[in-house]
Amino acid sequence: MALAGALVLLATTAQLATAHFGIEYPTWRDNTLGSTANSNYSQWEYPCAGVPGTLGNRTDWPLTGGSLALDLHHDWTYIFINLGLGENVANFNYSLTDPFWNSTGNGTLCIPKVTLPANLPISDGSLGSLQIITLGEKGQSLYNCADITFRANVANLTEEECKTSPGVTYAPVVAAATTKSAGATAGVNTGVLSAVGLLTLLFVFGMSV
Ligand SMILES: *[C@@H]1O[C@H](CO)[C@@H](O)[C@H](O)[C@H]1NC(C)=O
Ligand SMILES: *[C@@H]1O[C@H](CO)[C@@H](O)[C@H](O)[C@H]1NC(C)=O
Ligand SMILES: *[C@@H]1O[C@H](CO)[C@@H](O)[C@H](O)[C@H]1NC(C)=O
Ligand SMILES: *[C@@H]1O[C@H](CO)[C@@H](O)[C@H](O)[C@H]1NC(C)=O
Ligand SMILES: *[C@@H]1O[C@H](CO)[C@@H](O)[C@H](O)[C@H]1NC(C)=O
Ligand SMILES: *[C@@H]1O[C@H](CO)[C@@H](O)[C@H](O)[C@H]1NC(C)=O
Repeated sequence: MALAGALVLLATTAQLATAHFGIEYPTWRDNTLGSTANSNYSQWEYPCAGVPGTLGNRTDWPLTGGSLALDLHHDWTYIFINLGLGENVANFNYSLTDPFWNSTGNGTLCIPKVTLPANLPISDGSLGSLQIITLGEKGQSLYNCADITFRANVANLTEEECKTSPGVTYAPVVAAATTKSAGATAGVNTGVLSAVGLLTLLFVFGMSV
């Protein structure tokens, strides 16, 4: 009873405390933000906000990793970027944010070049999808996806095209902590783990349960 009450309270505060986000580049699967979004979509829904993987909006994206621009609407949030390979991805099992990021500020966050894992089995023309997850303080997570075609002959966005809004920053969470002592690192990890919850972590890391 008490637990159920606490969960409902957590869910309610989570809704209030979280702002939705958009993907500006590469083109997202579909708009899931605001009143013009299809009413069947919900960013709370894993893995891609309820947007089917068959809409066909694909962006050519560099084989070596391309740009990513997010439209953020919060004081701060954790960001996870996962990649799945194939045409209609069910398994976003490559993490592109290891460690994950902590981002601060409202507006556009543009990463010129997202780093891909070594030895990804991709070549010119390979299909894939990016899954972006933002995660709030209480473990509430929001999802959006963008579908891409890996291309040998396309570039990441130029400096002119890839502009981060004033006041918007990001930093890898664990890397920042490792500049402190080993004890501090362990403290941050434990704090993040307990705040986020194990189940949510399973989802954000794209593991199948
Ligand atoms: C996706 O493609 C469809 C069909 O071309 C188009 O109507 C829709 O606006 C596109 N969605 C986005 C988010 O660009
Ligand atoms: C939402 O999904 C239902 C059931 O598939 C469908 O009938 C309805 O047209 C959809 N609504 C919109 C706005 O696309
Ligand atoms: C972000 O925007 C929201 C809503 O407009 C506002 O409440 C919040 O204070 C803003 N946060 C920052 C860091 O500007
Ligand atoms: C990721 O998932 C795909 C499809 O399920 C599978 O073929 C591939 O081996 C997986 N890769 C890793 C690194 O888990
Ligand atoms: C992430 O950033 C926010 C705002 O600066 C901060 O309150 C929070 O503690 C940070 N989280 C971690 C794990 O560093
Ligand atoms: C791609 O991103 C890298 C890393 O930020 C940058 O050095 C390079 O100039 C970018 N390439 C293009 C064509 O913008």
